[in-house]
Amino acid sequence: MKRDFLRISDLKKEEIYKIFDITKNFKKLKKEKKFTDHLKNLEIALLFYKPSTRTRISFELAIYELGGFPIYLSSQSTQISRGESLKDTAKVISRYVDGIIIRTYSQEELEEFAKYAEIPVINALTDLYHPVQILCDFFTIYEKKKILEDLKITYIGDGNNVCNSLIEGCDLLGIEIRVVCPLEYMPDERVIKNLRNKNVLKISSNPYEFIEDADIIYTDTWVSMGQDNEREKRLKIFQKYQVNEELLKKAKKDFLFMHCLPAHRGEEVTDEVIDGPNSIVYDQAENRLHCQKSLLAFLFSEPGSERKGEEWE
Ligand code: CP
Repeated sequence: MKRDFLRISDLKKEEIYKIFDITKNFKKLKKEKKFTDHLKNLEIALLFYKPSTRTRISFELAIYELGGFPIYLSSQSTQISRGESLKDTAKVISRYVDGIIIRTYSQEELEEFAKYAEIPVINALTDLYHPVQILCDFFTIYEKKKILEDLKITYIGDGNNVCNSLIEGCDLLGIEIRVVCPLEYMPDERVIKNLRNKNVLKISSNPYEFIEDADIIYTDTWVSMGQDNEREKRLKIFQKYQVNEELLKKAKKDFLFMHCLPAHRGEEVTDEVIDGPNSIVYDQAENRLHCQKSLLAFLFSEPGSERKGEEWE
């Protein structure tokens, strides 16, 4: 049975914790330069419609270090750029490789691709979600704080794909999430409507409202990929949502600052904060590798998957 990962709620809560246990082990093995063969004889394609530094490198390395073979495809270099249909592309790629990791614009198109693909499909970012980012971020928080459920997370800035996946993940794991956005840039309504536990989410437009008791303060770019034509307008609207020393004056001493990167220093965050003692942004980036390895091992080798009999641990 193929197992896709198109949104964070495609995993169960207990599966996420299991993935975290395996991630710890992969992180230790990496330091010893020891790799495994969970993806032995498997080829995985990466089809990217948008640029990437972290996601591409960490997935390519993860596949290699699990004994598999990664094939990177920019959409521009394929017949997709000349109009080949998603259906034909999905069916053909399924004949060549064992899995595909896709970064694209529309979540609906990703889901359509997954419907026609006969191989597992992993969402490496759409305009609606960034589930691999958030899965890895939860691991980083768990690694640093040793708990998840009693924490309070404040996300401040644009209600974008990272924010949507963060909300969905907090709902799944039972973590309090407070989102602070300008009224025009709130999280996606579908995400809010589909919450299993509505009490998990609080929303405000006041940048100071959820700072004092936050364990995690998370921000992201104000201008995501594909929104450059709105840049000037967005910079003006988001100005008072900048994460800077003034905003953080009353924050807890041990809060953690997170950002999925790339950061636009001087826009959503200042140098003092991102380079400061509470910032864990580079640990976040590093953990993309370890945690995605664990996700791949889970999706391709778990009992019940196509690789029956293989132990994914
Ligand atoms: N955070 C993130 O997805 O980074 P990239 O765009 O560099 O992959």
